Amino acid sequence: MIPVLTIDGPSGAGKGTVAKAVAVALGWHLLDSGALYRLTALAGIDRQYDLTDAELMAECASSLAVQFLVRDDALVIYLDGLDVTQRVRSEEAGMGASTVGALPSVRAALLDRQRTFRTAPGLVADGRDMGTVVFPDAQIKVFLTASPEARALRRQKQLIQMGESVSLPRLLEDIRVRDLRDSERAASPLKAADDAIMLDSTQMSIEQVVAAVLGAVETRS
Ligand code: C5P
Repeated sequence: MIPVLTIDGPSGAGKGTVAKAVAVALGWHLLDSGALYRLTALAGIDRQYDLTDAELMAECASSLAVQFLVRDDALVIYLDGLDVTQRVRSEEAGMGASTVGALPSVRAALLDRQRTFRTAPGLVADGRDMGTVVFPDAQIKVFLTASPEARALRRQKQLIQMGESVSLPRLLEDIRVRDLRDSERAASPLKAADDAIMLDSTQMSIEQVVAAVLGAVETRS
């Protein structure tokens, strides 16, 4: 059985950075499932679809023409032949992902695509429902949280690095809206798996979180 480590939690808790560092340390593959939801939303926006239309958005999800390439040690993402590496990380894509992620038809359309990432020697999967729905048999499950204020501050720093400026109150509001929608939706709501290890990163550095996750992997294996 190919091992899977799932890292779930709300946006801005540090999942992406932690998942990448842990995958590199273990030499395992990485699934950024949020990117698939963000790409589905971008494809819908580009086709001028209504993002709440279950049928149209499921069609977008199952026909996603995506390429993940590594260039100069950085990940480059193409959607329909266009470089969307920056756009995928935008607030527009994040909010759109949260809208389409609430549609069961979209979640079903992305399920098999996500499971194909489970290849030897192992997989680190980051998202909202990795441990509960996509890989319920994962050997190690982590649920990573942080206070909404800490997450908004981290997000603001990220956006500044990307040359975007968004006010802190606006980001905090976006985070609250997204948390609420992600945890109250009927389809795969954001919640920790019963067997998940809970980690609160509010007062922790990325290095400390990575060390804690690697420690958990060592203990479990
Ligand atoms: O993790 P990221 O911020 O990229 O996710 C963007 C949005 O995609 C989340 O707010 C969530 O609504 C949705 N998502 C999801 N299930 C996943 C990953 C992301 O519903 N496994």
